[in-house]
Amino acid sequence: MSSCPLTFAAIGCGGRVQTYSKGAALMPDRYQVVAAADPNPARLKLMRDIVPGELRTFADDRELFAAGRLADIVMIGTQDAYHVQPCIEAMRLGYDVLLEKPIATNFREVMQLEQEAARLGRRVLVCHVLRYTPLYTKVKSLLEAGVIGQMVTINAVEGVAPFHQAHSFVRGHWSVVEKSSPMIIAKCCHDLDIVSWLVDAKCESVSSFGSLSHFNAANAPAGAPARCTDGCPVAGQCFYDAHRYLTDQRNWLQWVFNGGVKASDDEVLDWLRTSPWGRCVYHCDNTAVDRQTVNMHFANRVTGTLTMTAFDSGRYLEIRGTEGVLLAGTGVQRTSGHEIAVVNHRTEKPVYHDLEIIEGDYAGHGGGDHGLMSVLDAEWRKPNPADMRSSLQRSVESHAIGFAAEEARLNGSVVKLDEYIARHRS
Ligand SMILES: NC(=O)c1ccc[n+]([C@@H]2O[C@H](COP(=O)([O-])OP(=O)(O)OC[C@H]3O[C@@H](n4cnc5c(N)ncnc54)[C@H](O)[C@@H]3O)[C@@H](O)[C@H]2O)c1
Repeated sequence: MSSCPLTFAAIGCGGRVQTYSKGAALMPDRYQVVAAADPNPARLKLMRDIVPGELRTFADDRELFAAGRLADIVMIGTQDAYHVQPCIEAMRLGYDVLLEKPIATNFREVMQLEQEAARLGRRVLVCHVLRYTPLYTKVKSLLEAGVIGQMVTINAVEGVAPFHQAHSFVRGHWSVVEKSSPMIIAKCCHDLDIVSWLVDAKCESVSSFGSLSHFNAANAPAGAPARCTDGCPVAGQCFYDAHRYLTDQRNWLQWVFNGGVKASDDEVLDWLRTSPWGRCVYHCDNTAVDRQTVNMHFANRVTGTLTMTAFDSGRYLEIRGTEGVLLAGTGVQRTSGHEIAVVNHRTEKPVYHDLEIIEGDYAGHGGGDHGLMSVLDAEWRKPNPADMRSSLQRSVESHAIGFAAEEARLNGSVVKLDEYIARHRS
């Protein structure tokens, strides 16, 4: 049973936890953040500024756990490789958990966490915020209303956007797969989760292709040094010039450089001279792919694809059924100005659907951050934890698709999901 307001202890107070905490601060009668842990004092200060009431602060998760159970829910926003350990510790102390994606950086740990949650009877919601966006909520309801008849195929595209790819997957936190997670998990576990939710059947098998083909030394401009600040001959012309953090790409600083958005140009330049974000994108230690496709076959015979590419921007979907076609997201937005189009095979005329617009930084992820916080307490009241819209149990299914796809890509194989899951069960 959940209390009212629901109380939270936050672990890892980066961008994600700050976003949820801002959401909680807007609804103090429903949510209260009462404790926060982070080794970075500047992040704890930001949390004190965000949280309206009293906040107990701790230097890390271990200190927070040593204080006993302080809230209903632990919110985990540490980096990918440090989700499982604090989640299991929190569950053992009696907490339920709001867990950032990905659940873990390998599938064996995903399974371990699921088994431990079941053994302890804890509730874990994985932050697949896309499930809570107006766009995908509307797509789901249109499919359930039968607007395209029976689904036959689904094609999803995740256009990461070139500068975003450079910031996060070439220079940034998720660039070295061995230290974080495969990109199809780090960036696309949301997309695979949406595909799995919309198809509404078990995925049976996957194959996948992809590579890191652009962001490497072979494509470096002649004479480009290791850092953009080291007198690069194409500085000012290169799309990925790190000096753009001083101008049109300054917004990224809020996630990686405390106080960076308001810092002077000289302070940002100093930071670029030593930080990973000042490096030439063609001279990094990155191993994340810059393109990947995943092919899926589902138990209801729907076939699906996901294309992840650095070289487009935004998410879109094409879903084909026995009665019509549903198009949603960037693709249809660009051509029609509408969010969703449904084209019936008989009339061939598009029927458009538009959505409520949510403004401000809390609107992140297409309104998903807002959408999640606006129903979180209701999710917590559902008698069966597995019925929460992005429950751990549901998320395990889409994580299985992603990790199996990575195995398929690396081995050039087709992976049967049942066998893959059985192999990783302890
Ligand atoms: N749901 C989404 O759409 C979405 C979007 C972006 C990122 N993410 C995921 O959210 C997670 C957090 O991302 P972020 O960008 O906020 O990360 P971040 O790197 O900005 O923040 C992580 C924080 O954890 C802190 N930390 C490290 N060790 C700790 C410990 N032992 N105890 C307490 N705190 C500790 C760090 O000091 C840092 O402040 C990542 O796993 C990321 O993949 C999810």
